[in-house]
Amino acid sequence: KRVVLAYSGGLDTSVILKWLEDQYGCEVITFTADLGQGEEVEPARAKAEALGVKQIYIEDLREIFVRDYVFPMFRANTIYEGEYLLGTSIARPLIARRLVEIAEETGADAIAHGATGKGNDQVRFELGAYALKPGIKVIAPWREWDLNSRERLMAYAEQHNIPVDYKKQGTKSPYSMDANLLHISYEGGPLEDPWTEAEEDMWRWSVSPEAAPDESETLTIGFEKGDPVSINGERLSAAELLAKLNERGGAHGVGRLDIVENRYVGMKSRGCYETPGGTILLRARRALESITLDREAAHLKDELMPRYASIIYNGYWWSPERRMLQAAIDDTQGVVNGEVRLRLYKGNVIVAGRRSEDTLFDDAIATFEDDAGAYDQKDAEGFIRLNALRLRIAASRNRKPT
Ligand code: ARG
Ligand code: SIN
Repeated sequence: KRVVLAYSGGLDTSVILKWLEDQYGCEVITFTADLGQGEEVEPARAKAEALGVKQIYIEDLREIFVRDYVFPMFRANTIYEGEYLLGTSIARPLIARRLVEIAEETGADAIAHGATGKGNDQVRFELGAYALKPGIKVIAPWREWDLNSRERLMAYAEQHNIPVDYKKQGTKSPYSMDANLLHISYEGGPLEDPWTEAEEDMWRWSVSPEAAPDESETLTIGFEKGDPVSINGERLSAAELLAKLNERGGAHGVGRLDIVENRYVGMKSRGCYETPGGTILLRARRALESITLDREAAHLKDELMPRYASIIYNGYWWSPERRMLQAAIDDTQGVVNGEVRLRLYKGNVIVAGRRSEDTLFDDAIATFEDDAGAYDQKDAEGFIRLNALRLRIAASRNRKPT
């Protein structure tokens, strides 16, 4: 029996690795992905080797992640519950896909992950896996074992000769964190009291707006078919572009978030997030769509967006309803070409200009000056009169507006 484990190289997933061998007597195959979390993935190979793993998969998925997951999601200007940019949510379907594919390649019949039984991530990994390979078995050790405290986990690690770097553990961040090219997240520890403000030194990607430069920075982002392709005229790959925006946004204190969100399993959870590049991109995308999209298409897209966001948050990326909405969203994006100029300043992203060959903005019509007959103001009279018809009928029946 073989199982493919989503392996970070950290203490928790190392314990899981040993535990799987112990409890299930199975051979463990590890999978470690570079999604731009900013930590080296190669050390995971040495650690897996030291633990006796024979098949080790380490993959750089940064371009695929941004191009095929983050950007398609952004085409809907997707935000969960008005705030969250879904940085963790959108990475899970890709990891689920690779776990299942590696299981197929290696003849494994199960996959395993290190998500707890209380969160969203278990749901996302497993819904994804079942949608792509209905017969797959899933092992979620956190839901099964009794190593539910730090001490027990450490004791288990010691018993099984899992190298624990005590010094490092001593300085370990008190937060449950997850990072990739889209964001870094912090949950738990001192954040469990929603009234307690995050310590300034928790934030890793951005300076505080107070510490940001007094001078603003101007960026011009180019888009093709709804996806960003360049910064200040320089064409960049998807991952390069997002990395660059993270860096520039972070330097200006852009993209910090402190929220309480509703997890799919039913509890409320307080989390802090840094999403500098994503915050810039959503602002830029809206500015470009404001001149290129038809009003009704844009409004309908906005109505569908919260639904689309929940679908992704709840783990249904690989579902017919997500594909269906994606097709509708993508259908609008052919005209979303052009450039947006923005200024970053002390935590703000300020739109300064937008232009497009596909613009619907017609200054001949919109002008406050003489429009030379482009728009007949007399037409507005009938337009208003007919739209007022039902209001006048109701008013004449003496129904008072409340
Ligand atoms: N609450 C966020 C979400 O559900 C972030 C989850 C972070 N996951 C983690 N394993 N630390 O998408
Ligand atoms: C976890 O519970 O493993 C992390 C948080 C989440 O999945 O929501």
